[in-house]
Amino acid sequence: MHEIASFGHWLKLRRVALQLSQAELASRVGCAAITIRKIEADERRPSAQIAELLAQHLELTPDERAAFLAAAQAVISPLRLAAPFQPAAAMLTRGSLPTPPTALVGRAAEIAAVCILLRRNELRVLTLTGPGGVGKTRLALEAGREVQSAFDDGAWFVPLAPIAEPALLLSAIAQTLGTQELPGQTLQQTVQSALRDRQILLVLDNFEQIHAAVLQLAELLAALPTLKLLVTSRIPLRITAEHQFPVPPLTLPNPQAEPGAGEPPASAAVALFAARAQAVKPDFAIPPA
Ligand SMILES: Nc1ncnc2c1ncn2[C@@H]1O[C@H](COP(=O)(O)OP(=O)(O)OP(=O)(O)O)[C@@H](O)[C@H]1O
Ligand SMILES: [Mg+2]
Repeated sequence: MHEIASFGHWLKLRRVALQLSQAELASRVGCAAITIRKIEADERRPSAQIAELLAQHLELTPDERAAFLAAAQAVISPLRLAAPFQPAAAMLTRGSLPTPPTALVGRAAEIAAVCILLRRNELRVLTLTGPGGVGKTRLALEAGREVQSAFDDGAWFVPLAPIAEPALLLSAIAQTLGTQELPGQTLQQTVQSALRDRQILLVLDNFEQIHAAVLQLAELLAALPTLKLLVTSRIPLRITAEHQFPVPPLTLPNPQAEPGAGEPPASAAVALFAARAQAVKPDFAIPPA
């Protein structure tokens, strides 16, 4: 975590994160480069007009902009600004789906089915259900990656496994989006304004951990008509907007099928088992049936 020493320091880190020189930022804002240098050195504060222009050129979200303007006038501490390295540019496009460390095995049919459901306009909440270890998170990540380009503001991953308190749902979402609580706003207002009018897919992973937070989730859905949720949970949410997708186990070998001579039985479950075994014992091979 980077320590933010001052408003000028934050401005400098943000400018560098956007790969702008002092002269480039100055020319966009319409001021002298020396003005940017002095603001970054905390030798002067920006006027209200320059602060507005800076906010326009630093790719700030509406929440970040409000906090930036308040920090520029020393109304709030610069410590309350979002990290300068997560500029709105990330919020505008990419999202935050983690990449699994191992290769995917099977699941083509399930990924296709989940993607078709997620692309339906009227679908608001898709819950992948099933017992622990069946592959819900993996399926959510693969399908999320496949459909994320259909969402202008990308797909965002909210890990709930480490959380035991339903009240922390909103903080977990805010943390994923990199939004900060603003003075005079509740966390619910902050999260709602960060998500308002955004075409976004939120992937809420392990919702069973905080099942009692379903009411808050229903409130978010009601307030934000463009929000879509892909949820993984060992138990269904049981809210009106929910569409459930029970995740089946990986396919097993068909005992009726006759494998070719010397071939191991073909199935996704066996292939996954073999891949994991080979990761620790490279010469491992499934014996022929
Ligand atoms: N199709 C697959 N190909 C490769 N690896 C997989 C596949 N499905 C699951 N895995 C791996 O198996 C492990 C368990 O899967 P996953 O974490 O998705 O289960 P889960 O249903 O989300 O479990 P939990 O309820 O405990 O969260 C993970 O390491 C995951 O990467
Ligand atoms: Mg999981």
